[in-house]
Amino acid sequence: MMVQDSDIQQLARWIVQSKKTVIFTGAGMSTESGIPDFRSDQGLWKKTDPMEVATVEAMNHRYDLFHEFYSIRIKNVQKKKPHTGYSVLAEWEKKENLTAVATQNVDRYHRKAGSDNVYELHGALEAVRCIRAGHSASVEDFLNKQPCSQCGSSLRPGVVLFGEMLPQQSWENALNQIQQSDLLMIIGTSLQVHPVNMLPSMAKGKVVLINRDDIQGSYHFDLILKGSAEKILNDVNQRIKEQKNQ
Ligand code: OAD
Repeated sequence: MMVQDSDIQQLARWIVQSKKTVIFTGAGMSTESGIPDFRSDQGLWKKTDPMEVATVEAMNHRYDLFHEFYSIRIKNVQKKKPHTGYSVLAEWEKKENLTAVATQNVDRYHRKAGSDNVYELHGALEAVRCIRAGHSASVEDFLNKQPCSQCGSSLRPGVVLFGEMLPQQSWENALNQIQQSDLLMIIGTSLQVHPVNMLPSMAKGKVVLINRDDIQGSYHFDLILKGSAEKILNDVNQRIKEQKNQ
């Protein structure tokens, strides 16, 4: 489906006018980098039951399976790189009033692409620590199934597993930023996972959705751009440049 040019123009105008734009991303932001999402046709949860691999229970009782699942994901993220849509967001942090990126993604691609103010609501794969005491360790040690060098317990990626709390500071910061924003752009998320799916309703300003598929649930969006995140971000960036040159 084609995104209407008038919608691209509209969003470009809103970004230029905004005093505080906040971005909220999900797995759909990274599919064009070659990282699968969770709930689309090719998504991870279509092939694997999250309760089998992504829970505290799995980590404690099925460590081999847990380790294999996260090793494959880590290696894939290491092999791929952030696409040009990520660079557009990093550019807006410098040239427009984009003040924060809140993300559910664990690939660190926003930071790698140059965004500075990023809140990782579901943690990060590469923030490896040990299961028992939280001693930090390297990704290589995790991939090689090494024990913690300080206490000997097993290592785990620094992601939020089902059954775990979100990192509180990131959550509070993201919530504050969203409440203060006059423009919230939500990109590539099905909004099926609690509690992050409450965030869109906390915004008091305009709320825009960029997503390939329709969203279930009762959300209010002031504008919906249905399509590819990478292409839409680049198109909007192009329009911003044209509007500024006029
Ligand atoms: P989902 O897989 O649930 O949703 C991804 C959304 O992005 C879908 O609605 C797709 O239509 C859309 N999408 C995919 N590719 C796109 C593209 N190139 N451009 C635009 N839209 C695209 O992923 P999330 O909503 O991020 O949590 O999932 C939320 C959480 O569920 C994850 O953080 C993970 C998972 O279980 C944990 O592991 C705790």
